[in-house]
Amino acid sequence: MAVGIFDSGLGGLTILEAVQARLPDVDFVYLADSANAPYGVRTADDIYDLTVAATQRLFDAGCDLVILACNTASAAALRRMQESWVPTDKRVLGVFVPLIEAMTEREWGDNSPPREVAVKHVALFATPATVASRAFQRELAFRAIGVDVEAQACGGVVDAIEDGDMILAEAMVRSHVDALKRKMPHPQAGILGCTHYPLMKDVFQEALGPDVTLYSQADLVAESLADYLERHPKMMGAGAAALLTTGDPARVSTRATQFLRRQITFSAA
Ligand code: DGL
Repeated sequence: MAVGIFDSGLGGLTILEAVQARLPDVDFVYLADSANAPYGVRTADDIYDLTVAATQRLFDAGCDLVILACNTASAAALRRMQESWVPTDKRVLGVFVPLIEAMTEREWGDNSPPREVAVKHVALFATPATVASRAFQRELAFRAIGVDVEAQACGGVVDAIEDGDMILAEAMVRSHVDALKRKMPHPQAGILGCTHYPLMKDVFQEALGPDVTLYSQADLVAESLADYLERHPKMMGAGAAALLTTGDPARVSTRATQFLRRQITFSAA
């Protein structure tokens, strides 16, 4: 019984770790499209085509439910996939909504009209494609009114992380936070809207200051998935646990082992 987890690269391992900890009896098939990462600088059509191909690969591996643990894919491709591509016996879910529900203090599936919430000034850090999609602002507008969102497209951070250059990644995070603060000097909340960024969470927090509440997705997605599987136990699928990459398995395994500080072994997708 396996659920599919998709990311363009290694960032989704932050989600995988959280869902494994929350659901120890569920197997997960993780697919990293390392050969085509980063997605964040691609066009929406390109991201759609790559995400469809990766999701099909996870369906072929026996998964009936696939989580797009990639904000860029969730923002640029998910709605179109759900509207015109996902077969009726399969489900594909994204990672944006659990985060927005937490920020707007809503229960899962609360469809009441948008209302005022405590957080008024929100800094969104995400890839250029996610920022361009405005999916975050759209989903937020369904749930909250009067929230000012300033988005910072954090070009280069994902490439530095995927290359294992954490010194460069840290310098880039600091410069993106500075750029954001020039546009919004006092954000109340910071959204880490890319699965790679929790790996740099301490740097974001330090650069933003202790008064800014940081929201990152891993635990929120794990909780939402647990809730979903309780209501839809048949969606667990038939696949067996695996870590797959479209890139070079040896190279990807080395990088993943560095990130999570434990042995991680990928196979060819
Ligand atoms: N980690 C993915 C995200 O959550 C995408 C990073 C990329 O491939 O640019 O946005």
